Amino acid sequence: MSKGIIIAIDGFSSTGKSTIAKLLAEKYNYIYVDTGAMYRAVTLYAKQNDFVGKDFFDEEKLISNLKNISLSFHFNADLGFAEMFLNGVNVEKEIRTLEVSQLVSKVSAISEVRRKLVAEQQIMGEDNGIVMDGRDIGTVVFPKAELKLFMTASADKRATRRYKELIDRGDKVDFKDILFNVEERDRIDSTREDSPLMKAEDAIEFDNSDMGIKEQFDRICALVDRRI
Ligand code: DC
Repeated sequence: MSKGIIIAIDGFSSTGKSTIAKLLAEKYNYIYVDTGAMYRAVTLYAKQNDFVGKDFFDEEKLISNLKNISLSFHFNADLGFAEMFLNGVNVEKEIRTLEVSQLVSKVSAISEVRRKLVAEQQIMGEDNGIVMDGRDIGTVVFPKAELKLFMTASADKRATRRYKELIDRGDKVDFKDILFNVEERDRIDSTREDSPLMKAEDAIEFDNSDMGIKEQFDRICALVDRRI
């Protein structure tokens, strides 16, 4: 039996990358890795230890403490996906707050952070049969991935999706803060020096501003089937 392929999904924040990635992993029985969760968990660690906040960032302290950060995914059968654990503690809910979203781009611009996480991600892909989503998967983590997708959508559509997600889980947030965060993160993620968010030359672009999940999924499955 074939070992499966590597599917790399990159793109702007809240473009539905993880929704598509989870559906693909389920259909093809692949492992799904949400690399954004890993950057968020490192950010949560930095926040808990007062290395980073709204107006300060002690990069050196974070860098010298990276060895104390252990990240792991544990599959939750009820939810149907793997949850993020930071030093043995389930942080799946805490890493999705607006506060973490407001700090994560600063933390993920640090080269030492990226080197640690990219190395861990590459090990996860050794067995293939993997769907990984993030910002640099097709360009840096798996430049030889068999299928690369690049997701985009209008900022307004993306902020609306994120706003709904946060409201549905009971967070009190303002739409304008979410819109600002989505645009600001894209700006920082795309302009940072180390591995900026960009479309790999051989990635297929999907603008899903006006495309439902089913249509996207069907189109992407046809691409996967061709690669397999
Ligand atoms: O996918 P997400 O929105 O949960 O990602 C959170 C942040 O993590 C994103 O704004 C940038 C950073 N990130 C990154 O730099 N590289 C990745 N491969 C994944 C995420």
